[in-house]
Amino acid sequence: MSHQDLINMTRSLVEHGAADTMEYADDIVRIPASSYTDPEMFEREKKQIFRRLPLMVAPSCELPEPGDYKALDICGVPLLLTRQKDGSVGAFLNMCKHRGNPLVEGTGNATRMVCGYHGWTYKNDGSLVGVASPQDFGAVDKASLCLTRFPVYEKSGLIWATLDPDSTLDIADYLCGYDELLGAFGFDGWTLFAQRTLPGPNWKTAYDGYLDFYHLPVLHKDTFGADFYNRANYFSFGPHQRLSTPSKYAIKVQGEDDQKIDLTQMADEDIPYEVLVQGVWTIFPHISIASFYGGGQRGAMISQLFPGDEVGESYTTQYYVMENKPETEADVKSAHEQFDFLEIVVRDEDYKTGKRQHEALQSGLLKEVLFGRNERGGQVFHQWVERLTNASDDELKDIFAAECKQAAE
Ligand code: FES
Ligand SMILES: [Fe+2]
Repeated sequence: MSHQDLINMTRSLVEHGAADTMEYADDIVRIPASSYTDPEMFEREKKQIFRRLPLMVAPSCELPEPGDYKALDICGVPLLLTRQKDGSVGAFLNMCKHRGNPLVEGTGNATRMVCGYHGWTYKNDGSLVGVASPQDFGAVDKASLCLTRFPVYEKSGLIWATLDPDSTLDIADYLCGYDELLGAFGFDGWTLFAQRTLPGPNWKTAYDGYLDFYHLPVLHKDTFGADFYNRANYFSFGPHQRLSTPSKYAIKVQGEDDQKIDLTQMADEDIPYEVLVQGVWTIFPHISIASFYGGGQRGAMISQLFPGDEVGESYTTQYYVMENKPETEADVKSAHEQFDFLEIVVRDEDYKTGKRQHEALQSGLLKEVLFGRNERGGQVFHQWVERLTNASDDELKDIFAAECKQAAE
């Protein structure tokens, strides 16, 4: 996939915008309400989706320097990410091979990590370099006791890992070139300005909201405004989807003086970067990326969603990444304001509504929910969740091999 794909998508959005049309799904789709509330299905999704498919675990700028590490728990799997000496990322099971104690917590920088239980020492490439009191412990083959490694992949300033050490699904195949397109954001070399984690409703309820512009002028009337657009066209790349509003205009945001551009009058090569990536880019099954402007420069919010312990719980880490670190006090303040605004929108509007929706659905009295012809993103998302939850490991590889083939044609 290439720059030309971005141009083609933009031209299609402009054509639809100029004609005041949008792309519709074939039909209204019905989803059983129980798919949001059934605890068994929830456990299956965690196992079949989150513990089996590649997940975007961190933006590269969260681990910029050799020695940087981050530990996090995803669906009961303790994961350790490290930036190794050669600059590559390592993804490991965060468990000491002696008796399973998690090796590190949170984030930090270390080339060696000492287990807090009995003091075994590992390098950040996962190798075991020291057994405490080896003369007393007995002889062990250190090479066979390295940390368990997960498949990992870094591209376009984002890091993916698969939480199954035996996975044979190639992460690049899973992304089918979508990772190249994400390169248009230019995240490589950006900086992580701030991050926070918010509790939310069932992961699918939460994710529906990221794939939905229909609700924007209603639910977000007090934040985005009641005249905000509510139409989106969807572009799918396997299970990954970009959604953007059909419009012949683009707003070039430049701080105080926004500029309205008529794209029908503009040559392809003059279309600015922010227009080519506008809208929301989702990475199945749990990421949403949108550009913003704050602190005097380009930024983006990367939302990373994981299921919680119970069917009605999820948590979302919001990463606010910026092209450069804001320098002046005024720019830092304005970047914080932008980030805080996005917290309010998600916490007090989207997730608050999702929680209420979940409680009501748990009554069991509504049998199905609807996704309209203007909500293709949600339709496609739920179809993929069902398909991938039910696929065997072998089928999974075939599905993505076929998607890649199709994308290459
Ligand atoms: S569990 Fe790590 S040293 Fe014993
Ligand atoms: Fe929303």
